[in-house]
Amino acid sequence: MDLPAENVRSMKLIFATHNQHKVEEIQSAIGNQLKIISLREAGISQEIPEPHDTLRENALEKSRTIYLLSNGEDCFSEDTGLEVDSLRGEPGVRSARYAGEPVSFSRNIDKLLANMSHSTDRNARFRTVISLILNDQEYFFEGTCNGQILAERRGVGGFGYDPVFVPDGAAKSFSEMTMEEKNLFSHRKKAADKMILFLNQKILNT
Ligand code: IMP
Repeated sequence: MDLPAENVRSMKLIFATHNQHKVEEIQSAIGNQLKIISLREAGISQEIPEPHDTLRENALEKSRTIYLLSNGEDCFSEDTGLEVDSLRGEPGVRSARYAGEPVSFSRNIDKLLANMSHSTDRNARFRTVISLILNDQEYFFEGTCNGQILAERRGVGGFGYDPVFVPDGAAKSFSEMTMEEKNLFSHRKKAADKMILFLNQKILNT
């Protein structure tokens, strides 16, 4: 989607995550449409809790935490889950810790493939919820990406479940794609586009 970028270029938002992969993907999705401040740049090193049963509540918890720690700066966070139909939506909100602590992308994939070893239904989706706090108001944006879970890993790039996820309409797994290719399908990119569109409209209307 082409967005009227000029209007939000001068805006700065703290991105409430310590996950460097997410920072890179959001930066690539947003481009120079607005300035993203990392937690390191904001001088915030505290762990951010995600204790809830929904992506929306976890995303809100993260943005509220950073909002308080930064003394009321505009900020946003995101929470993402992989929802597998044959596992009745698992690992979902538990995607990061599916195979327990400490968090391991590799063990999470091993557990997913083991739990799906007899599944002929390979349908799944990534779902991202962004929580934005702007001028003390809270807003949400969602992006989804439907696809299939492979029987084994393909590719070495990306993070999380990327090696076993092929989005609908693609021949490659997320791990085999460049960042630009992933952005053509990505749940995170779709949610980020909605936030940018909202910010542009908000600025035009004030
Ligand atoms: P959270 O949003 O930080 O709770 O992360 C959820 C987990 O989902 C991550 O640890 C990854 O394992 C996985 N995940 C989130 N986004 C992606 C993605 O774009 N590709 C693959 N795995 C992802």
